[in-house]
Amino acid sequence: MNNSMARPLSAVDPAIFDLIQKETERQNGQIELIASENFTSEAILEATGSIFTNKYAEGYPGKRYYGGCEFADEVENIARERAKELFKAEYVNVQPHSGSQANQAAFAAVLNPGDTIMGLDLAHGGHLTHGHKLNFSGKMYNVVGYQVRKEDELIDFDQMAALASAHKPKLIIAGGSAYARTWDFKRFREVADSVGALLMVDMAHFSGLVAAGVHPNPCEYADIVTSTTHKTLRGPRSGIILARERFGKDIDRNVFPGAQGGPLVHVIAAKAVCFLEALTPEFVTYQKQVVANAQALAKGMQEAGFRVVSGGTDTHLLLVDVFSKGVKGKEAEQSLDRARITVNKNAIPFDVNPPLNPSGIRLGSPAATTRGFGEAEMLQVAKLISDVLHAPADEANIASVRRGVEALTSRFPLYDWKLAPVAV
Ligand SMILES: Cc1ncc(COP(=O)(O)O)c(C=O)c1O
Repeated sequence: MNNSMARPLSAVDPAIFDLIQKETERQNGQIELIASENFTSEAILEATGSIFTNKYAEGYPGKRYYGGCEFADEVENIARERAKELFKAEYVNVQPHSGSQANQAAFAAVLNPGDTIMGLDLAHGGHLTHGHKLNFSGKMYNVVGYQVRKEDELIDFDQMAALASAHKPKLIIAGGSAYARTWDFKRFREVADSVGALLMVDMAHFSGLVAAGVHPNPCEYADIVTSTTHKTLRGPRSGIILARERFGKDIDRNVFPGAQGGPLVHVIAAKAVCFLEALTPEFVTYQKQVVANAQALAKGMQEAGFRVVSGGTDTHLLLVDVFSKGVKGKEAEQSLDRARITVNKNAIPFDVNPPLNPSGIRLGSPAATTRGFGEAEMLQVAKLISDVLHAPADEANIASVRRGVEALTSRFPLYDWKLAPVAV
């Protein structure tokens, strides 16, 4: 290869090299509690950074619009077979670049613009792509939102059934990004069947739990199931669509050429590695720990006097009502950030505060569990969080928590990278 093409990143672009080093240190040195994040394996990072990034492979295995796809075909076929085995699905498309694009293509496969869809309100734990007015889903389809019940903050199936009967949606969507409880797919299926609607489950958040059998598998009930691969599933940043075989052709067409051009073959390779990892007994042990850790964190927060939405969690995430202790979500997020505990502010159901400064924070256990934290560490994390939130403007207090964070993270090293600049 031409010499200038073989130079290391540190020599070609010291600024970006330096930022990768800083980000590595940041990830190593903080406690990551963002429920939608995780730390992938080095094997997945290697596949994501592989030379498959060079390859155009528009089309599907055996039917490509470009030559030289023989190995890309093998990669995609392996990814497909592993995903089908993992989720016991009839059909899979592994090409979506993201969860949003998976949803876009899935909707387009079964809906026409103007059709009615029903999803969980964003303010009650749903996702932007399930009908928010600023998102393609809210612009293109007629959206009816269902909610959780005020008294127990669990999905209100009675309200959902009544809305479905009144509005006759063509598609009902289960799944969301801030609902901590088990999704009762059987109930969703019953409501969908009662009005002749299709059922789609967006398992982006909990697909890792499904893969490990610690959450019911939506593929048993739904017509279409979409997911990201980078949250609990711990793969590369990307999406997938699973479905009944009869939807396969339409989904394929609506991913490519409907929504995307060339697939990211390097990321499909990394998804294949992710599915392989998810098929191991170690992954089942990991996901059981993810749930146990989220429950320990919820218990710790409750013992520190915070209200946890719906009283706890069955999954990897929990919503903490910090306003119950007089703190707002934005201040909580920022003060925790200064203590090197990373969370996101989040609306809680029936929030009395506005979305940009809501009453809650969302906490998740997947990343901390990957790092090796168990329940004892999660109880310590709850104590550190509550110490910050009891005096969020007190910088001496935050500095003291930061020392606690350093003590904890240094016991659980993450990426052991020595990114020393290479001499050239
Ligand atoms: C339920 C759900 N669906 C879809 C998405 C979108 O995924 P992406 O960010 O990959 O577009 C998310 C991401 O937060 C999500 O939580």
